[in-house]
Amino acid sequence: MSDIVFDGVSRVFKRDGREFPALEEVSFRVAEREFVTIVGPSGCGKTTCLRLAAGLEFPSAGTVAVGGKRVVGPGPDRAVVFQQFALFPWKTVFDNIEFGLRAKGVDAEERRREVARHIELMGLQGYESAYPHQLSGGMQQRVAIARSYVLGPDVLLMDEPFGALDAQTRVVMQEELIKLSRVIPRTVLFITHAVEEAVYLADRVVVMTRRPGRIREIIDVAAVRKAENWDRYERIEDVMDQSSFVHLRTSIWRLLREQQAPHHVNH
Ligand SMILES: Nc1ncnc2c1ncn2[C@@H]1O[C@H](COP(=O)(O)OP(=O)(O)O)[C@@H](O)[C@H]1O
Ligand SMILES: [Mg+2]
Repeated sequence: MSDIVFDGVSRVFKRDGREFPALEEVSFRVAEREFVTIVGPSGCGKTTCLRLAAGLEFPSAGTVAVGGKRVVGPGPDRAVVFQQFALFPWKTVFDNIEFGLRAKGVDAEERRREVARHIELMGLQGYESAYPHQLSGGMQQRVAIARSYVLGPDVLLMDEPFGALDAQTRVVMQEELIKLSRVIPRTVLFITHAVEEAVYLADRVVVMTRRPGRIREIIDVAAVRKAENWDRYERIEDVMDQSSFVHLRTSIWRLLREQQAPHHVNH
């Protein structure tokens, strides 16, 4: 069982002797092999949620558990992909993807096979011996995702992984991630501030309030995707053209609009 459970999680940061609440009473569950996205205004605590699940940060109150075990630090059951690709610049694509397998003590033959399989899954054939600086942002993020998937973690934690990509590359990556998560289903918690991305990728979307972040609403996309058979479309623009998609997107926009600070309202 590799679910993620947030139970009454609050996080308060202290700065200059003052307390800044970042998250308040956040409770939700990502079921095993479910793809959950979190959207919310900037500064509402999305990254903090991800860092809590990763074990890079700890709750001030409440608990975070992965696979039924309270998170006490980072672990091999969870892989994290950040907006900054954090590849080793001095290593080739192949060596970047292979690195974690080496660290785990996987033998050479299996390493070669697994790296080759993930290079193919992420469409990186022909780039095996390229260095990160020779790749576009999109290709670098493919390497970062392959590097996480190859380790076979139960849980993937992604913090705006496509945030730094141009719009067209981003769309391709979204399609690739959907395909990949069908071939290799994982429990995924994916942070974004892009509403379309949140709806397109998710089984469920968690919508947060502005800071201090609470859960405003959790939206079941999987039910709509199934009822409306979105999976018959290969292209993101065809899914986004469906009135059922537009409807979900608009209702999330309305929830986020409510979260704008009063001084953002025009008089
Ligand atoms: N280590 C930290 N120390 C103090 N304040 C922090 C720290 N990390 C995050 N914060 C604050 O907590 C709030 C939530 O941050 P974050 O989780 O990064 O939001 P988001 O990812 O939704 O933009 C922000 O107000 C941020 O300034
Ligand atoms: Mg963030």
